[in-house]
Amino acid sequence: MAFSSLKKSDSVGSTPHRKQNHPNKRKPFSKMQLLGSALGALVIAAGVTASQSNSRSRGKNTDSQPQFNASSGTRPLVHLTPNKGWMNDPNGLFYDSEASIWHAYYQYNPNDNVWGLPLYWGHATSEDLTVWEDHGAAIAPQNDESGAFSGSIIIDANNTSGFFNDSTKPAQRIVAFYTEHNATTESQYAAYSLDGGFTFEQYEHNPVLDIGSDQFRDPKVFWHEESERWVMTLALSQEYTIQIFTSENLKDWELQSNFSHHGILGYQYECPGLAKVRVERDIPLNVTSNGKTNLTTQDDGAEYKWVMFLSINPGSPAGGSVNEYFIGDFDGKTFTPQDSAARIVDHGKDFYALQTFTNAPNGDTIGIAWASNWDYCAFVPTEAWKSSMSIARNFTVRPYNPNPQSTELNLYSTPILNSTDLQTKRYLKKSSLEIGADEALKYNLGNDAQGLLEFTATWKVNGSSIPSVGDFADLSFWFTGKEDDDEYLRLGYAVNAAGFFVDRGNTDVDFVNDNPFFNNRQTQNIETYKIGTDGLPIYKVHGIIDRNIIELFFNDGSSTSTNLFFLSDGNYIGGVEITAGVEGVFTILDFEIKQLARK
Ligand code: FRU
Repeated sequence: MAFSSLKKSDSVGSTPHRKQNHPNKRKPFSKMQLLGSALGALVIAAGVTASQSNSRSRGKNTDSQPQFNASSGTRPLVHLTPNKGWMNDPNGLFYDSEASIWHAYYQYNPNDNVWGLPLYWGHATSEDLTVWEDHGAAIAPQNDESGAFSGSIIIDANNTSGFFNDSTKPAQRIVAFYTEHNATTESQYAAYSLDGGFTFEQYEHNPVLDIGSDQFRDPKVFWHEESERWVMTLALSQEYTIQIFTSENLKDWELQSNFSHHGILGYQYECPGLAKVRVERDIPLNVTSNGKTNLTTQDDGAEYKWVMFLSINPGSPAGGSVNEYFIGDFDGKTFTPQDSAARIVDHGKDFYALQTFTNAPNGDTIGIAWASNWDYCAFVPTEAWKSSMSIARNFTVRPYNPNPQSTELNLYSTPILNSTDLQTKRYLKKSSLEIGADEALKYNLGNDAQGLLEFTATWKVNGSSIPSVGDFADLSFWFTGKEDDDEYLRLGYAVNAAGFFVDRGNTDVDFVNDNPFFNNRQTQNIETYKIGTDGLPIYKVHGIIDRNIIELFFNDGSSTSTNLFFLSDGNYIGGVEITAGVEGVFTILDFEIKQLARK
């Protein structure tokens, strides 16, 4: 089926060719300014105007707009970014239960704003997974031609490694594993910290694992309670193999099994990780179509499935980098997937190298991904620093219905946005909104908008009101720039496609208009959230916008979409307009939006 009439055209039109914003053209970096406010949490109803005219048939004024640059105002407020230099994959994520601090390390080039050797582990900490403090380099590579590539951290509370003595508290016996990469070899190194994760000592007999390969990397280590062994997963990247090793002392590692040729292969496998993820369900689990629902049950009755995360780059069907996952069982040596399906963690373009935290409280599985894509990350128009992480997500496995005839296990993601560090500057809640075809509901978030907002929308669809399959029945949310509303981010649902879309192409920023890999439009199928009492399907989206990144969580997080977007410098999102393509199809049951600021 083809649907032709896009009534609310975003008329990108013919954009004059503009030069790629080359990363070497540096602009001076000025420090992030945070909007401090002594007012505390002030909740004000947003200025609400419901307009009778739909102004969303937008042309673009392509000239004379300020360009996005690295000034203080462009840095996300609740996403981890490096103070300066380049960042990619999250590494060594762990929670220090002694100091109550979350630690995140990352692939770090302090000398340039693009990837390059020597590559370090950078380091940041957070008390709440929302606001991060960057500390710069924590682990250095062996020499200037090598890199301390991706890896992980575990807590060796029982000192199985012998790296510690009584002067280090059990909860702070921190051991890092990473890949030392040079032109000929990728081998695995161990380093330990005696000061709570701020500095590291190299294990004197490194490497702990070297098989003579130059494509063997990204160790993720965890303690397997049931077999009382350390387990390490590693990518034998270009053989499409995840190798699983075990150890009793963190120094001697024994190969136990290979998990190979699963899922989308792409060019290579990177950053594998195995995690025990809590199952949440209120229905019996004899539900999956193949009946393979063995669950690991803990003494406290909690149920778990094992999830193998895997990163593929390049070669994502959507272009560039993608994270997939497999649900299954793990006996301490071998991971057995429950079916042959490859599932996608996040359907946006900017979510890669996901890693989960060691030692998250309550048995939670919390993860962070690098919010960019290798296809274009070097050209993204920030200057003195480049890249941010995703927001932290709490993962669970739950049954869901992708269609009426299947119930499947699925990874759910809940974003962690800790409100104690944030204040709500504007708040608006509306329910039972009907939108005509020729009008827009407009909500202004105020002139003090700092580009950080959170919203939730739940809507009901009456498909029988669409006169013809040739009518494009969309419910669109147009998030407009506060200085110039000709720049905007458009999101929405279209009945015809049973899918959600994100359009990040409505901007004057050169990079967006010129870089052919920075696809402007992402789409994805979303399943019905609920069926209303009147039999009509209901859908839901929860979104977090933080200056130049949007993360969407559909239907309580059964699928997500993370995407960078760039409006001109300082043109933060300052309002939203909601439109419907066809009269009488959509009822917005609830719409809630908060304009947030750092305290
Ligand atoms: C994934 C990756 C890893 C590697 C690191 C190098 O993005 O390629 O496989 O360890 O980045 O920075």
